[in-house]
Amino acid sequence: MTEHILEVEDLRGYYRGVFGVVRAIDGVSFNLDRGTIMGIAGESGGGKSTLAQLVSGSPPPLLHREGGRILVDGIDIYNIDPEELRTEVKCKRMSYVPQASMESLNPVKRIRDFIFDVVGQRTGRRVRSKERKAEILEMAANHVKTLGLNSSVLDLYPHELSGGMKQRVVIAISTLWNPKLLVIDEPTSALDVTSQKRMIKALLKLKRAGIIESMLYISHDLTSLRQCCARSMVMYAGKVVEIGSMDETINDPLHPYSQLLGAAIASYDPKGRRQDTLQSIPGSPPDLRNPPSGCRFHPRCPYAMDICKTTDPPMFTVGNGSRQAACWLLKSKAGE
Ligand SMILES: Nc1ncnc2c1ncn2[C@@H]1O[C@H](COP(=O)(O)OP(=O)(O)OP(=O)(O)O)[C@@H](O)[C@H]1O
Ligand code: SF4
Ligand SMILES: [Mg+2]
Repeated sequence: MTEHILEVEDLRGYYRGVFGVVRAIDGVSFNLDRGTIMGIAGESGGGKSTLAQLVSGSPPPLLHREGGRILVDGIDIYNIDPEELRTEVKCKRMSYVPQASMESLNPVKRIRDFIFDVVGQRTGRRVRSKERKAEILEMAANHVKTLGLNSSVLDLYPHELSGGMKQRVVIAISTLWNPKLLVIDEPTSALDVTSQKRMIKALLKLKRAGIIESMLYISHDLTSLRQCCARSMVMYAGKVVEIGSMDETINDPLHPYSQLLGAAIASYDPKGRRQDTLQSIPGSPPDLRNPPSGCRFHPRCPYAMDICKTTDPPMFTVGNGSRQAACWLLKSKAGE
């Protein structure tokens, strides 16, 4: 057993279509340790959802993995056949909850019947017998209760649930198999502040209850990232710019882009009375059909030097080895 539940090595993922080629993930590498919650932060368009779709093993039709590897629990998911991906990875090891997934519930089916459909698709066998249905409903009831809902929600239609309840139902369904890794994209973005807090608590409870082991948690809501994640990864324009503990990234950010994000985090109100936004960062993210040369952040960076315009900085490891950032300013600090 490897120490990492997820290993991503030099991943490249591009959208190809009539619009051209969008280099949405361009050389991304990181590991996620078992038992850890890692948050992925960054402005809109940075590539967070694209990364999650690639990690899920089933990217949408226009998104292509152009290079690199993804290992889930040691399994190279782009080097196995689709049946093995379904049975060994998706049914046992990893679950992916996409952005806006609460809309994925079927409006004309009760939650319980929708769950039977999902189980049928996952396992490749339609759920027919009374015994099997009872077994699945018991599992589902346990999960919705862990997530703070009454098991009677299983008898309701989606329109009878609030946004927060729908989101928790989707998570309960996605974790029915107790996946080791949960990849969850913006679970709080459509919720009000009270429902957001409830959602964070529910996710942490899933981990404490042993239903999930590790989580990749994507959000541009800095408050929820901070409440939930021990590790953080900051993305900008399809690249990882900083990886470290959440505390270090917030209190002592290494990368100029993380520092600008940090300014937004600094205005964090622990009582949750205001929402942090990233609007304070000057300029806007680049068009990834034609990204800037060198460091992709250089047109917006207050410290840009000549080398930044021509040469992409590698990840420099700083301190005891647990922190990394991709910025030429760190070259001397990292002793390279
Ligand atoms: N279906 C698509 N076709 C073409 N380009 C796309 C598609 N989906 C996303 N992109 C582009 O890929 C890049 C990364 O987008 P992505 O949705 O991964 O960002 P994100 O960090 O998840 O943003 P947000 O915070 O808004 O969810 C952006 O430049 C975006 O315009
Ligand atoms: S490499 Fe250069 S442009 Fe990029 S963040 Fe560092 S100083 Fe700024
Ligand atoms: Mg997204």
